[in-house]
Amino acid sequence: MSDIKNVEYGLEKIFEGAQDFLPLLGTDYVEFIVGNAKQAAHYYKTAFGFQSVAYAGLETGLRDRASYVLKQDKIRFVFTTPLTADSPLNDHLVKHGDAVKIVALWVEDARKSFEETTKRGAKVFMEPTVETDEFGEVVRAGIYTYGETVHMFVERKNYNGAFLPGYREWKSDYNPAPTGLKYVDHMVGNVGWNEMNTWVKWYEDVMGFVNFLSFDDKQINTEYSALMSKVMSNGNGRIKFPINEPAEGMKKSQIEEYLDFYGGPGVQHIAIATDDIIKTVSDLKARGVEFLSQPPQAYYDAVPERLGAHRGAFKEDILEIQKLGIMVDADEEGYLLQIFTKPVEDRPTLFYEIIQRMGARGFGAGNFKALFESIEREQALRGTL
Ligand code: FE2
Repeated sequence: MSDIKNVEYGLEKIFEGAQDFLPLLGTDYVEFIVGNAKQAAHYYKTAFGFQSVAYAGLETGLRDRASYVLKQDKIRFVFTTPLTADSPLNDHLVKHGDAVKIVALWVEDARKSFEETTKRGAKVFMEPTVETDEFGEVVRAGIYTYGETVHMFVERKNYNGAFLPGYREWKSDYNPAPTGLKYVDHMVGNVGWNEMNTWVKWYEDVMGFVNFLSFDDKQINTEYSALMSKVMSNGNGRIKFPINEPAEGMKKSQIEEYLDFYGGPGVQHIAIATDDIIKTVSDLKARGVEFLSQPPQAYYDAVPERLGAHRGAFKEDILEIQKLGIMVDADEEGYLLQIFTKPVEDRPTLFYEIIQRMGARGFGAGNFKALFESIEREQALRGTL
């Protein structure tokens, strides 16, 4: 059993007595393959308030790609683009568009993480590899998860450079202020028809995760469409991966639309935590981040009822919440505030969630209907409903 404590998120062990053969310290980085990494980096700095950290490209000796590393509090994003027509990265780009390729997990021992998962059936992406420079060494190893998405294990206890060996520190004269984004709360994967349980079992068997919340198509549906979702968590609760699959409805599910445009399974949204959602969302809007349309008045009229026992603890100004289009949900332990962006690419694929947890550990099940109706309004405009 791992001795990692949940100081960060205040979660107790989700399961006791199970073997945590894959102790995870947190999310290390998320790497995107994009068409133009220089411009993507500029967008994430300008719109989301990420800070310049590191760079690798022609100037550092690479010939085939360039990568920009950005950070905000505990969140680290890497944007990589191919520089030549024969780069294998192009296949990913043509097939999926700008997309998340690597969800990297910070571990104490990358070789052991690789061994434990591959002996349980994980498909190899990268054998354990030691990279060194004047700042020390990093050990990385990667396995495939759903689609072409990869989990990279990163062991960096003997490294004190900017990011990884081969990258140089990126000092920029352009440094927009952060927007209060703190850490990755969860990352959601969309998988194909009837594949959800296959991947739930994969996370249980290969990664030692547990399924701690499930939603079926009776709970997640609108007049037109439906989906099913199961939330997988690692032993210390720091890493949460909900898995969605489409379900039959009168019209096309948003998950189907994603699968069509992404060209298969992939990361649907990244939820990022903030301590002050009103300030963060106001900042993001002022910087041009586009959010889904506001739920109707009836939704806000029902907020006190949805808060139930937590009504007295609710600190925010409901009018301000409504003005920004933020949604409110509650569970036994507390409440949460959340809002969703529109897709950040032209393909209707990856989007972001901004979430503030006030004790609640859920995922906003009480908001699913309002959220999906809002997504359907966008789908209708795209002609994909
Ligand atoms: Fe979410």
